[in-house]
Amino acid sequence: MVKICCIGAGYVGGPTMAVIALKCPDVEVVVVDISEARIAGWNSDRLPIYEPGLDDVVKRCRGRNLFFSTDVERYVGEADVVFVSVNTPTKTRGLGAGKAADLTYWESAARMIADVSRSDKIVVEKSTVPVKTAEAIEKILAHNGRGVRYQILSNPEFLAEGTAVRDLFAPDRVLIGGRETPEGQAAVKVLKGVYARWVPEDRIITTNLWSAELSKLAANAFLAQRISSVNAISALCEATGADVAEVACSIGKDSRIGPRFLSASVGFGGSCFQKDILNLVYICECYGLPEVAEYWRQVIGINDYQKSRFVNRVVSSMFNTVAGKKVAVLGFAFKKDTGDTRETPAIDVCRGLLGDKAVVSIYDPQVTEEQVRRDLAMRKFDWDHPRHLQPVGEPGDQQPVAVTTDAYEAARDAHAVCILTEWEDFRSLDYRRMYDVMQKPAFVFDGRNIVDPEKLRDIGFIVYAIGKPLDQWLKDMPAVA
Ligand code: NAI
Repeated sequence: MVKICCIGAGYVGGPTMAVIALKCPDVEVVVVDISEARIAGWNSDRLPIYEPGLDDVVKRCRGRNLFFSTDVERYVGEADVVFVSVNTPTKTRGLGAGKAADLTYWESAARMIADVSRSDKIVVEKSTVPVKTAEAIEKILAHNGRGVRYQILSNPEFLAEGTAVRDLFAPDRVLIGGRETPEGQAAVKVLKGVYARWVPEDRIITTNLWSAELSKLAANAFLAQRISSVNAISALCEATGADVAEVACSIGKDSRIGPRFLSASVGFGGSCFQKDILNLVYICECYGLPEVAEYWRQVIGINDYQKSRFVNRVVSSMFNTVAGKKVAVLGFAFKKDTGDTRETPAIDVCRGLLGDKAVVSIYDPQVTEEQVRRDLAMRKFDWDHPRHLQPVGEPGDQQPVAVTTDAYEAARDAHAVCILTEWEDFRSLDYRRMYDVMQKPAFVFDGRNIVDPEKLRDIGFIVYAIGKPLDQWLKDMPAVA
C-alpha cells in the first residue's frame, strides 16, 4: 500500500490530502508542518482554514487514515510518495525581489527529504513553482541522495479557495508531469492510480515536467487576465454610460469566450494570482522575452489601477476628502466563503482610505480583528513568510481602524459603506436600517456589484457600482485616475 506524506498543511496541503484520504481509505496520508499552531488546528474541532464542506471530510477520515503531525522527518522518512505543498512566496530581497518566487521553503523541504530518506521516493511538486524547478530539486536530491532514488513529478493544484472541496471532488482536470523515462512514467502511473480512485481517467492529463509546471502559471495568468480585461472595460463603461454587467453577459454568450469569470470588481486578490504572474514575468525576463513579460505585467497594472480608481472614487465623491469621516468596510476576505485575506484588495483600499485620513470600520464574517490589524501593518509580500518574521503591533495598531462583529455597527455614524467582498449575506442586509444610522448624504460604494443600485437610490443613498452608469452626483464629482 502506498504511504503518502504531505509537507505543508496549508490551504492546499490540508484539503487536498483530506480528500485523498477520504477517497482512498486504504492509503495512509500524513500531513506534516513545522507550524505547531497549524497542526494543532487541524487536530482540533476548529480547523485552521475555513472552507465549505471541509470539516465533514476531515472528521470522516482523521484518525482513520488521515493524520496531522509536526514530526516532519519521521513521516517523510516512512512515505513512498511525498507531496511538497509549502508556500512559494514572492522574494522580498535580493536578486529578483518583488517578482521572483522565493524557493527557500521548497529547497529546505527538499534538503530535509534527502536527509531523512532511506528508501526510494516519489516527490510531488504540489506548490506552484517556476518552470524548471523540478530540475533544481532533482539536483539537490541527487547530490545528497546517498543511494536513494527519487522521481520528481509536477502535480500543480487548481482548486479555488471557497470551493476547494467541490473542486477536489470533481476537478476539471488533474495534471501530472513526469520525466519521459521508464522510471518517470512508472512514477506517473503510481500517482495517476491515486487520483483514478475518484477522478475519471479522461480528466487526468499527463505531460512532461516543464509543461505541467508552466501550465499552472499560465492558467493563473489567463484567469487573472480575464478579470483585468473586464475591469478595464468597467472603467470605460463608467465613462460612457454602458453597463459592464450587460457587456459581460453579451460577450460571455460567445462560446469562444464563455460566461464565467467575467464579473467586474474592485480587483482580484488571493495568494496566487499576483505572485504567480510576477513569477511568470520574472521568468520571461530571465529567458530574454521582455515583450512577453510586459504583456503579463499589465494584468497586474490594471488590477492596481482598479483598486486605486475605487479609492479615488470614494474620496472624490465625498467632496474630495474623507479626513475624519467614518467609512464602513463590508468584507475583508479576498472573496466570499473564505477567511483568507492574502493580497485581498481590501488591504489596498483600506490603506488608501487611511492615507486620506478616513476612520475605517471593518466587518467580515470570517476574518478576525487580529488578522485585519496584522494585514494592515504588514509590508507588501511579507504575508507569505513565516509569522515570526512579520511585524506585529506596528503601524496598523495606531491607525484609526475598528473591527466590528456586525455590519450595522460598522455603518453607525458612517458617511459611506464600501462593499469589498461578495459575501451572500451582504445582498440581504437591511440597507434602510443602515441608512437611518448613517451620516447624510450617505454613500454606498459597491466594489463587487452585489446590491441593486436603484433600490439603494430609492432609500436615499448615493450609489457607485463598478462599471455601472453613474448617477448625477458622481458625474458632478469626477475621480482623477
Ligand atoms: P500556506 O502558506 O497556507 O501553507 C504552506 C504551509 O507550508 C505552511 O503551513 C508552512 O508552515 C508550511 N511549511 C513551509 N515550509 C515548511 C517546511 N520546510 N516543512 C514543513 N512545513 C513547511 O500555502 P498554500 O496556500 O497552501 O499554498 C501552498 C502552495 O500551493 C503555494 O505554492 C501556492 O502558490 C500553491 N497553490 C495555492 C492555492 C491556494 O488557493 N491557496 C491554489 C493552488 C496552488
